[in-house]
Amino acid sequence: MSETELFPPPKAFSKRAHIKSRKEYEAIYRQSVKNPSKFWAEKAKQLHWFKKWKRVFRYTKKPFVKWFEGGKINVSYNCLDRHLSTARKNKAALIWEGEPGDSKTYTYQELHLEVCRFANVLKKHRIKKGDRVCIYLPMIPQLAIAMLACTRIGAIHSVVFGGFSANSLRNRIQDSRAKMLITSDGSFRKGKIIPLKKMADEALAECPSVKTVIVCRRTGQKIPMKRKRDRWWDEEIKAEDISDVCKPAEMDAEDPLFILYTSGTTGKPKGILHTTGGYLVYVYQTFKWIFDIQEEDTHWCTADIGWVTGHSYIVYGPLANGATSLMFEGVPNYPKPDRFWEIVEKYKVTLFYTAPTAIRSIKQEGNQWPKRHDLSSLRLLGSVGEPINPEAWLWYHKMIGNRKCPIVDTWWQTETGGVLITPLPGAIPTKPGSATLPFPGIVPDVLDEKGRRAKINEGGYLVIKKPWPAMARTVWGNPKRFKEIYFGKFPGVYLTGDNAKIDKDGYFWVTGRTDDVIKISGHRFGTAEVESALTAHPAVAEAAAVPIPHPIKGQGLYVFVTLDKGIKQTPHLKKALFRQVAKEIWGIPPPWRILRWLHYCSSRGSFKIAVSVDIKDSGENLKIEPLPA
Ligand code: PRX
Repeated sequence: MSETELFPPPKAFSKRAHIKSRKEYEAIYRQSVKNPSKFWAEKAKQLHWFKKWKRVFRYTKKPFVKWFEGGKINVSYNCLDRHLSTARKNKAALIWEGEPGDSKTYTYQELHLEVCRFANVLKKHRIKKGDRVCIYLPMIPQLAIAMLACTRIGAIHSVVFGGFSANSLRNRIQDSRAKMLITSDGSFRKGKIIPLKKMADEALAECPSVKTVIVCRRTGQKIPMKRKRDRWWDEEIKAEDISDVCKPAEMDAEDPLFILYTSGTTGKPKGILHTTGGYLVYVYQTFKWIFDIQEEDTHWCTADIGWVTGHSYIVYGPLANGATSLMFEGVPNYPKPDRFWEIVEKYKVTLFYTAPTAIRSIKQEGNQWPKRHDLSSLRLLGSVGEPINPEAWLWYHKMIGNRKCPIVDTWWQTETGGVLITPLPGAIPTKPGSATLPFPGIVPDVLDEKGRRAKINEGGYLVIKKPWPAMARTVWGNPKRFKEIYFGKFPGVYLTGDNAKIDKDGYFWVTGRTDDVIKISGHRFGTAEVESALTAHPAVAEAAAVPIPHPIKGQGLYVFVTLDKGIKQTPHLKKALFRQVAKEIWGIPPPWRILRWLHYCSSRGSFKIAVSVDIKDSGENLKIEPLPA
């Protein structure tokens, strides 16, 4: 793709956009970096504060920062109560579409009521400000309700993606020492039932911190409930002693809001901590300008809330803006490859935000699927999670956007809380494959090994040179690690771990990671996690995992395994190793598919095997192909 191929924002779009031209963007950007305190204070004022902050920003001890210090705020109040005295009271806040096709809509008023009642359930079970609540749920409304209820009383939520295994869940609960777990009897995945509660029970066997488990009914199968510890969500929320009223806690701007675990270069996933005021201001403002939210929009972000994209752009960003946010439980290609387009048509979705992997996998099914549906309601498309290749970008632009929708390729991370590099859709001409320019207030750069600015089009380390309100505050329980990982290479400068280049127009092109983090289907894994899962198997002496390019999933994984002396490589063992990785990281059924065994040779008396694996395919595809000659 030529770097000069520019796609200007459609005129009709720019005309009514929040930011209408590149000139306007540049003026705002200049001001935002010249006087960030003034810029962010103006944005923060649009939210409701019980008490105004004393200082917009300060370093406590570099690189540790405080934003809106002294301010008192509540996230659920801003996402719900603030809209109840306006015309938004009866507007749809959350539209939920279940995998089997069941659906439910909550107006702001209805969602407020559910959140207040569930916040009272939390209180009844002695959850207090600062306590950690782990949420391990499928994409059902209770997930958003539980998160908002935590914020209402100042509990810190830690959402664990419902696809993760019992071991992954256990590690996260143990690290955060959560007092409560919220889960469901099961979850649906491509028509099958995943026994979530069973996995939760397995994890909880080694999690003494958890005193109460709240269980949502989703799949309806019979599950064991542990006396005194386990309660049904529907019974708890209906109980007579649960009031409709729950006063929002007045939280300090820097009080912890949530922990979200994410993979890094070494060791176990780390708990990224986000705090209240700065995070909310940032996701509020980025959602408003990047998705150019208008009152009548229906926004659909297809991510799972178990990842940061869902936290920021399904729940907090949209609701803080009083928008209608759609939440979908299923996957793009089940029961048919037009599931996404069916939903776009059904709800007249206007803003659609997904990952390049989803675009590529739908594209390969053929144009007949989107063509079956009326997609004319769409006015903006978004991409997130991994680099988007120009072919996929162009297909998205033509087939889905009918050449009339701007595409926002949004670059960000769990640690950044919200989008940092992105086009503003009414203002910035786009180039397929480039996330374009920084959001106002953000100062990114590309540095070489010595910390000098890289030349034009020269690859280097993507860094952020100035703090922003939603930046992670620490790694839960390990500030030293936080400082070392993110500020160790170039002191005082945030190291993203990504590789990027800047072209002659100042556009950023993010090409991939500089470390051992891999993105499979936009999901983040550390090769070290996979390696330690394999070496935990008694037959394995050593393991090494490396990424490989994958046409649909962006990246796949090769795993080299050295077996212990005397252990024979058998098809049974191969399966066992894959199940082992599935057990340690991903949930069941075994989601790892063996694509191909590469070679098998004897080395130093042990057997060396190499396989390539593909995360996130369902177990029924498990197949072992013959070894190449
Ligand atoms: O490598 C970058 C890639 O995803 C990483 C962050 O992953 P995670 O914390 O799981 O958050 C994903 C959703 C925000 C980044 O370090 N990445 C994310 N967005 C893009 C991207 N790479 C290229 N282009 C993007 N738009």
